[in-house]
Amino acid sequence: MSALSDSPEPITNSPEWQVLAAHREAIAGQSIRALFDADPDRFKRFSIEAADLLLDYSRNHITADTMALLIALAEKAGMSAAIAAMFAGDAINYTEQRPALHVALRSPDADNDYTRAVHATLDRMEQFVNAVTTWEWKGYRGDPITDVVNIGIGGSDLGPAMVYTALASHHLDGIRCHFVSNVDPVHLEQVLENLDPASTLFVIASKSFTTMETSLNAEAARRWFLEANPHEQDLTKHFVAVSANVEKAQAFGIDADNVFPLWDWVGGRYSLWSAIGLPVALGIGMNNFRALLGGGHAMDEHFRTASAAENLPVILAMLECWYLNFWGAQSHAVLPYAQSLHLFPAFLQQLDMESLGKSVTRDGEALDTATGGIIWGSAGTNGQHSFHQLLHQGTHLVPADFIAVAKSDSPNREQHVQLLANCFAQGQALMNGKSRDEAKAEQVAQGMLEKDADALAPHKAIAGNRPSNTLLLDSLTPASLGSLIAAYEHKVYAQSVILGINAFDQWGVELGKVLSREIHEALSGAGETSAFDASTNALINRCKQQ
Ligand code: F6P
Repeated sequence: MSALSDSPEPITNSPEWQVLAAHREAIAGQSIRALFDADPDRFKRFSIEAADLLLDYSRNHITADTMALLIALAEKAGMSAAIAAMFAGDAINYTEQRPALHVALRSPDADNDYTRAVHATLDRMEQFVNAVTTWEWKGYRGDPITDVVNIGIGGSDLGPAMVYTALASHHLDGIRCHFVSNVDPVHLEQVLENLDPASTLFVIASKSFTTMETSLNAEAARRWFLEANPHEQDLTKHFVAVSANVEKAQAFGIDADNVFPLWDWVGGRYSLWSAIGLPVALGIGMNNFRALLGGGHAMDEHFRTASAAENLPVILAMLECWYLNFWGAQSHAVLPYAQSLHLFPAFLQQLDMESLGKSVTRDGEALDTATGGIIWGSAGTNGQHSFHQLLHQGTHLVPADFIAVAKSDSPNREQHVQLLANCFAQGQALMNGKSRDEAKAEQVAQGMLEKDADALAPHKAIAGNRPSNTLLLDSLTPASLGSLIAAYEHKVYAQSVILGINAFDQWGVELGKVLSREIHEALSGAGETSAFDASTNALINRCKQQ
């Protein structure tokens, strides 16, 4: 059963699904290039603008009929009701019986219990950010804070780190933010190497405050601080926390006044808008942080009010389902042509794959079709000199999202124009490809013998007909970034609605955590182990020999 539909049947049994499967067969032979040739209005027909974003989805295997059928499928799955349910605060995270109300984090109004708590916390963040950035907040030696180290992992790291990096041109002078996530001690050590405890502020970010990596790194940070200054009472000037578990944060030794709250109705991977964004706010100032929220809210309003046919996140979701479920695609490349967005694919991996990496419906029925895709990618143009070869000539169908920014923050216009040219050329090359005849003619024109050109042509030919979307931002601002992130959050939810899965739990990550505790014991204890499978035993025992 889909998220909120009345139908007890899995969506894959619906007539809408069957019609789409037949439609896919019917249009399989039509190339995207031919669709463009046949319709001069194709860009206009298949592009949409919303909240600072332009989505061009014309380079897809779609016709007007395809979109109508996808919309029918989305509505069959209960899309409109599901969107309304999210904004109404229904318990759409049904396995944990809670709402998923990240939209409340960016609501401009404080008109209910959720948004009142949000605004009170934003006001507290503002006071704190102002105190730190105006140097009113001082370290134990009276120094201003110059370095903020966020210790967190998953949603308590990836979102804030990505946003802070993306908004480099908005960084405040005199304060640098660092992000430590990995339990590998080298991560923290490398960051602390060049920092002075007297001017360093640690933000311990953990919704649960029980995450092993964060606890161990936080303890190591405290030891590092106390080695320089053994007065425990000074910890309050250098350690603050963000958590839904205020008691645990206090038990760790953080002053209750220094704990910023988070709530169980905000999923970790949707939390960058909350006080989890504190390092971002410290790095770019509260006005810019509020502008980020404003951009997110603008996209929320679009998602909440637009019909499926004109709803940017719903369109992205329908296209993803189209390829994963009807074209056999397994992965999706995310290619930001903006160095500032180089962490965006990693952020999106958690958002998308932790949300959609599920295999049963609401009723616990196993799905026999793909739910989420494998998200991967990196910043262009770097990827062109690495994995784009597979996109162009490999045997996998990999739909791609290009993300481009029309106006750069850099004064180096020429290089920015090159960046854009390459971005648009990649989408074109994926779509158009190059036929064997074209490849051969090219070689002959360069003086190659016919027979040699014939032999080389299959290697130089590029099939083309590979789909992509382009998301264009006028410029990368806190508001446009907020809108971009919210668009993907809603795309993920809309996709979960179509398949009838829960986008807000993550039970799959628990097993590894439990097993690692037993293995940790074996690694730390005396003697050889034989408690596990032969492979695990051998690896543990080999490490112990070292
Ligand atoms: O292990 C997965 C996870 O629970 C993520 O969902 C979450 O973002 C991350 O760990 C960190 O959790 P916390 O903020 O509670 O430390």
